[in-house]
Amino acid sequence: MEEMERRFILSKVALGEVPPDMVIANANLFNSLTGEFVGRQSVWIKNNRIAYAGPDHDPLKGDGTTVIDARGMTVLPGLIEGHTHTASNRYGFEEFVRYVIPTGVTTVITETIELATVAGRDGIEYLVKGLEGQPVRFYYTIAPLCGLTPSEEINAPANEELLPLLKNPQCLGIGEIYWGNIFLEGQQGERVRELASIALEMGKLVEGHTAGASGRKLQAYTDFGVSSCHEPITDEEVLERLRLGYWVMIREGSIRKELPGVAGIFKKKIDFRRLILSTDGVDPEGFLEEGYLDASLRSALKLGVPPQLAYQMVTINVADHFGLDHLIGSLSPGKMADLLIIPSPQDFSPCLVMCDGKIIFRDGKSLAEPKKVFFPDHMFHTVTIPEAIFSSIKGGALAEPAVALAKAGKVRAMELVSRLVTKESMIDLEKPEESKDVIMILALDRVGNRGAFMGLLKGFGLERGAYGTTMSWDSPDMIVVGCDTQSMETVIGRLKEIGGGGVYAIEEEIVAEFPAPLCGVASLKPMEIVGEEVKKLEASLRKNGVKWEKPALTVDTLASPAIPHLRITHKGYVRLKDRKVLPVEA
Ligand SMILES: [Fe+2]
Repeated sequence: MEEMERRFILSKVALGEVPPDMVIANANLFNSLTGEFVGRQSVWIKNNRIAYAGPDHDPLKGDGTTVIDARGMTVLPGLIEGHTHTASNRYGFEEFVRYVIPTGVTTVITETIELATVAGRDGIEYLVKGLEGQPVRFYYTIAPLCGLTPSEEINAPANEELLPLLKNPQCLGIGEIYWGNIFLEGQQGERVRELASIALEMGKLVEGHTAGASGRKLQAYTDFGVSSCHEPITDEEVLERLRLGYWVMIREGSIRKELPGVAGIFKKKIDFRRLILSTDGVDPEGFLEEGYLDASLRSALKLGVPPQLAYQMVTINVADHFGLDHLIGSLSPGKMADLLIIPSPQDFSPCLVMCDGKIIFRDGKSLAEPKKVFFPDHMFHTVTIPEAIFSSIKGGALAEPAVALAKAGKVRAMELVSRLVTKESMIDLEKPEESKDVIMILALDRVGNRGAFMGLLKGFGLERGAYGTTMSWDSPDMIVVGCDTQSMETVIGRLKEIGGGGVYAIEEEIVAEFPAPLCGVASLKPMEIVGEEVKKLEASLRKNGVKWEKPALTVDTLASPAIPHLRITHKGYVRLKDRKVLPVEA
């Protein structure tokens, strides 16, 4: 239907000349534009849009008009998830959709990095095709695909190859650029800076990631036109970024839960219109046990965030940031019919969810199914490991750290100082205190066979066996951490066999595993099974000494430039500060 005709019909519905398709009557309507809850309101819907939202309860009724009595309950605009990862949290995309439907989220802006790190442009393109025709609305950002060093960017398409994907109206801009990456020298930094400026010239956004930046560095990064950040962990960091013009997304998801740490911001007498609540992704355990953005909202309400502000943070504020407020984020005439009914402002438990004029969830039941997404065969065969690797771990070049461990001496190691943050440590293996809790860590290029590097990891806690993953963030490298080379070999062999995922083995025995055959990063099994498998895997790692919560996530992040300070690639350790590639030798 032509846009003009659509709007003409909407106006006739509002004037009482054409009957609406659906009426939501007797609603306590949340007006996200003013922050008010207004009682005894009525919403008239025609086709997939709102024709009228106000106190008039008497539209022209036709035979086909459905009336839903909200019985004084609260009606909100559909929630908008401003920053998330739909293909990197171990489950497949369809499972994400299936589990999002009951949460009240009707629009999702997703990052596209995960599959692309392994499969390049195909990894973005096939996902983008899958975003269309789903029961909830999707937009996406283009992954900047910036690794620790150029050798992790082997699959990154040239900027001109990304232009058609960037021009797509569903694309809202460039996805999170880690602040250190924009300053990189040489081709690596040039490509990212060029991509950001192309996006800005096209009127699209550049999404940010300013973890740990402050003062001049933060200002210099902001000069590149970056307009959002989901990394602040204190109220001071939130305020600093708001003052610089950022849309600050308070992250409350599986990676971190920042609400308690930034809660002070809600007490300040400032303008909150650039504050957003988002998840940055939720893992299967999170989805199954707590929920998604609905769980983040409940946490905000529990923390005492006023309901009107909490709901603005997941509706109009997100729409404003992405320039989508003409379509979504409020319940006002001409907007998309995306709404939900909850018992009261304080009780966020949706009893009805409507997206695009269709009811997709009602009274505890999903009424829509995810549309199947197609991925080509080659995206299921991404773990290629040459036989030579196995022999070099046992007796060849890669065995050196193991030999060093046995012989003792001063060496360089990655040391975990929290479950995600590492530091560069020079350890003397002759000193019992320093050599305690040191195991091997192998980074192995599993898509291009361009080599492997064996280093040392301190502070993980693993006491026996080896754990390996192909679900590394920002890198196509497989990472294997282990106490002995036999177990490491078993893990690598098994990961090759199952096409990737996570495997824990002790010597020749597989103790637990999580197969993730799609690019080695996602499973296609139902969410409940994915959740069970991951839980079992993590429990077996913890049972065998690992002290960190979510140990699989810890290993997944060791190759990522998103987190300080010493990281690893198949070329060596990489010091994040200066991107120097470093050997084990001290
Ligand atoms: Fe993210």
